[in-house]
Amino acid sequence: MPVKILFVCLGNICRSPLAEAIFQHKIKELGLEVDIRSQSCGTANYHIGDMPDPRTIRNAFKNGIHINHVGRQLTPTDLDDFDFVLAMDQSNLDNIKQLPSAKANLHKISLMRNYDPSGSGLDVPDPYYGNEKDFQEVFDILNRSIDSFIDSLSRR
Ligand code: 4NP
Repeated sequence: MPVKILFVCLGNICRSPLAEAIFQHKIKELGLEVDIRSQSCGTANYHIGDMPDPRTIRNAFKNGIHINHVGRQLTPTDLDDFDFVLAMDQSNLDNIKQLPSAKANLHKISLMRNYDPSGSGLDVPDPYYGNEKDFQEVFDILNRSIDSFIDSLSRR
């Protein structure tokens, strides 16, 4: 059975689809794509069926990452189906923990930046109202957090 990781933000058009794309890129480079699977979703319903934000797609491309994703919302069964549920910020973490299925799955749910070697416990800032610099900051945070998350997976 593959290990399954779910990246969660608010809209599922900026942070979590980027996290999923960076993660899948690195996992593929390691040849682990059969054993480690990932998806992303949003806690809100604003962008169901939407492509990622064009600024996210552009920023990812500039950093050598291709994004192919269609927006979807978090469902209660996700918490049963995935092994790790990584929230981009505290507000989304709180919303995930309010699902009826959260109680039995609390051990799976954490902040993405709990894996950031230089910012543990902080939010991945929402870049939606920001500029290119903010999108690059999100990329850099996710890139190093995901490296350390993959390290922790490989030590399991
Ligand atoms: P995300 O960013 O949660 O990183 O996808 C946002 C996307 C859309 C909105 C807010 C944040 N919105 O308000 O529509």
